[in-house]
Amino acid sequence: MMNSEAHAELPGVSTKKVWAIGGGKGGVGKSLVSANVAICLALMGNKVIAVDLDLGGANLHTCLGLPIPQVTLSDYVSKRITNFEDLLVPTPISNLKIISGAQDELGMANLKHMHKNQIIRKLHELDADYILFDLGAGTAFNTIDFFITADKGILVVLPEPTSIENTYRFIKSVFFRRLKMIEGVSEIEHLINDTMNAKVTAGQISPADLMKKITELHPEVGYRIRQEMGHFRPNLIINQVRSQADIDIGYSIQSICRKYFGIEMTFPGYLDYDQSVWQSVRKRKPLLIEYPNSKLVNNFDRIVNRLIES
Ligand SMILES: Nc1ncnc2c1ncn2[C@@H]1O[C@H](COP(=O)(O)OP(=O)(O)O)[C@@H](O)[C@H]1O
Ligand SMILES: [Mg+2]
Repeated sequence: MMNSEAHAELPGVSTKKVWAIGGGKGGVGKSLVSANVAICLALMGNKVIAVDLDLGGANLHTCLGLPIPQVTLSDYVSKRITNFEDLLVPTPISNLKIISGAQDELGMANLKHMHKNQIIRKLHELDADYILFDLGAGTAFNTIDFFITADKGILVVLPEPTSIENTYRFIKSVFFRRLKMIEGVSEIEHLINDTMNAKVTAGQISPADLMKKITELHPEVGYRIRQEMGHFRPNLIINQVRSQADIDIGYSIQSICRKYFGIEMTFPGYLDYDQSVWQSVRKRKPLLIEYPNSKLVNNFDRIVNRLIES
């Protein structure tokens, strides 16, 4: 593999990859996934930066076995730190650094537009092979925006109804945010808004129907939308799996998203429910390092390899 400096000299060619890890709900395992995917990539020899963007409940450092970091994103927003690179905190894993989220909920959760765009730009400019965004819960604009700017979006879901519903809600928010960014859609905004307000289960017009309708009414806009939405291919991880039925939920989410949203999802794998997760959290040690015999080692291996390939 060429090193990133060699690539940096070629305009338009970059090997840097930004992956965002989201999911509708708190406590589904976003930080667990972010931390351990970051560790896997770093152990493979990649230079990795994991960024805690859960601006109200930052806990990525715990999953990596670090104490509360001295510098956080709030220091940059409040201008106590002016050089963005000074936010990087080393971890016990040599190729892996983190940027910690804010510890104070106020202000950061409602990042101002300007700050947000500046932070997004700075994050994408960081020097690394992989940059991972550990996102906050919910569908706040900030979270959706961080998700949309990534090259790959990963959604962590628990096999339980509330988490599954939140996942659809998250996909829906991203879907419509992306849709509204497409050139030429302003003239059909009323159609979009009607569909956006429909419930996923209510049998009303679906986003997939909307795309058909737009194509009939405005073939050019329809074509652009299809092209753009073809790139929207979120990756699904089912966490805390206890049975085959839990794994199968991944396939049904895939098929519902195909029918309802007209989008394809990738299902790179699942994570077993494993006691070693909370034991490692309690010991404040990274799971993959502290429990090399845990079932999750194989789970993560498969997921990371599939994510790299896709
Ligand atoms: N596969 C798993 N097996 C057992 N417990 C898990 C698993 N995944 C997550 N947990 C538990 O759920 C808690 C929340 O996970 P976390 O990654 O902090 O969620 P989030 O970042 O989405 O809020 C963990 O501290 C752990 O106790
Ligand atoms: Mg978290």
